[in-house]
Amino acid sequence: MCGIVGYLGSKNAKPILINGLLKLEYRGYDSAGISTIEKSGISNIKTKGRVSLLDSIPEINNLSGTIGIAHTRWATHGKPSAVNSHPHLSNDKSFAVVHNGIIENYINLRAFLENEGFNFLSETDTEIIPNLIQYYFKKEKCSFLQAVIDACKDLKGSYAIEVISSIFPDTMIVVRKDSPLVIGKGNGETYISSDIPAILSFTKDFYFLNDLEFAEIKKDSLKFYNDKLESVTKDLITMEFDATAAEKDGFPDYMIKEIHEQPRSIRETIGAHIKEGCDFDEITLTKNELSNITQIYLVACGTAMHAGLVAKDIFEKCCHIPTFTDIASEFRYRNPIISKNTLAIFISQSGETADTIAALKLAKSKGAKTIAISNVIGSSITREADFCIYTHAGPEIAVASTKAYTSQIVLLAMLALCFARRLNSMHLDKIKSLEEEILQLSEKASIILKSTENQVKEIAKQIYNEKDIFFIGRGTDYHVAMEGSLKLKEISYIHSEAYASGELKHGTIALIENGINVVSILTDKNLMEKSISNIQEVVTRGAKTIIVTNLDLPDNNYDYIITIPRVSPLVSPALSVIPLQLLAYYVSKEKGLDVDKPRNLAKSVTVE
Ligand code: AGP
Repeated sequence: MCGIVGYLGSKNAKPILINGLLKLEYRGYDSAGISTIEKSGISNIKTKGRVSLLDSIPEINNLSGTIGIAHTRWATHGKPSAVNSHPHLSNDKSFAVVHNGIIENYINLRAFLENEGFNFLSETDTEIIPNLIQYYFKKEKCSFLQAVIDACKDLKGSYAIEVISSIFPDTMIVVRKDSPLVIGKGNGETYISSDIPAILSFTKDFYFLNDLEFAEIKKDSLKFYNDKLESVTKDLITMEFDATAAEKDGFPDYMIKEIHEQPRSIRETIGAHIKEGCDFDEITLTKNELSNITQIYLVACGTAMHAGLVAKDIFEKCCHIPTFTDIASEFRYRNPIISKNTLAIFISQSGETADTIAALKLAKSKGAKTIAISNVIGSSITREADFCIYTHAGPEIAVASTKAYTSQIVLLAMLALCFARRLNSMHLDKIKSLEEEILQLSEKASIILKSTENQVKEIAKQIYNEKDIFFIGRGTDYHVAMEGSLKLKEISYIHSEAYASGELKHGTIALIENGINVVSILTDKNLMEKSISNIQEVVTRGAKTIIVTNLDLPDNNYDYIITIPRVSPLVSPALSVIPLQLLAYYVSKEKGLDVDKPRNLAKSVTVE
């Protein structure tokens, strides 16, 4: 997954493009490059390494062009290197392209073009794109736009592409298919990016392209077409959140900022959905349609899937419909049983996760009703699903997802209660009581951040050198244990695993030895007794225990007890996860790691 940015206007493009790349580095950062239209033709400066290294190359200060494209890479084809970096030029150096996605048939296309006399410098799939454009432009003697359209017709796979040309020095062509691309409109200027934060400081007005829609961008015109060269009308959407929302607001890292944003993101996700009782106008499923639903799938990846695990219990308890949570990359290949009476809900912060999009398309093709839940307006899954609703967590920049997770839980809980109201599947008093609990989550999240952060910092100092850390819990606490374990692994690189407390004695307890740290989440009083006996099992084998709880425990012979406010176990994960997010963050900081850009990871996995 990579980040692309483009600019066309009357200012020097280079600083705008570099600024945009710096904000996109969380999407990938193993190499970077920039091309602008100069008097001498197309410039092309690129390097292995971070954007800051690109910006330190002396020649970059000679760029004065007002049209340009730039790219920060997360390698998929071809190792990180200067030659494999984007932008890539056509053989005749008249077209330059940056691309986010994967061209699945690039080997055949490369062979075809080599047969036509083209040669290739890189190992990438992308380099075939500018050369295909050159091929069609020369062969068809057509317009810039038509040549790009013809080239795209040969491409299989996913792409968001920006193209500039020395033959058409006043024009940029952009197109997307299964990869994100937004177009920001300024005053006589146009900004293009993989996503909003990179250009949010320049404009709040955006166009969102649908798959296989093309934009022809000139200084004084912006036109949209489909792949038949038919004109397309697009709405200009003004985004609410402001530029600072995508900055760090004085926090040292995006992740800690986003952890602290959770009281606000929970409040804004709740929005007006509870005012008259949980409702979502945008989901027009009637009581009759809902009554015919025989199963619900919650499908996602990573942290979003963990939110789905929490929501499974909520949907079953509120709607009494069998509910199953699936990992998207498993769901799409296991030939799931789906009928027109299936409701499939897809959860994705970015809305661009390839496996989740593919799972959504599969469910639709089998006749399921589909709902997308995303944090990014206009993202791919929201345009693919029958219905879409949004978390309003604001831009989530850190690779490790935090505020999106708690917002997803809140949104899913409200959706389940909305369906329960329509179905009359739950006593109204119980529905109202849960709605009240949800309304208190924002304030309780604030309390946790104030009351536990220093304690967690101290715990992190004690455990940051550990090699293995276990997370255990029962019921929904087990689902939170999975999320806490993932957070720790992905930003501190400490091996960790989550286990259902009752399952430990069936094998894994063999790994518990003197000094091993075990984190236990305990928020359901109906499970407290059993959970405590499971904790005792590890204590007697020498484990050090860190307990996250909102219950009055019968004893306190644990190494650490992190107390959080009480709330219904159905929605307690939105609170009990917060100390675990803080723990992962402070352990990573103790280890001096790059918390926002952990190794091997990207913010949104748009490749399969
Ligand atoms: C979460 O901390 C990870 N960065 C990762 O598991 C993420 O949740 C997963 O890739 C799904 O991303 P999405 O929500 O954008 O689809």
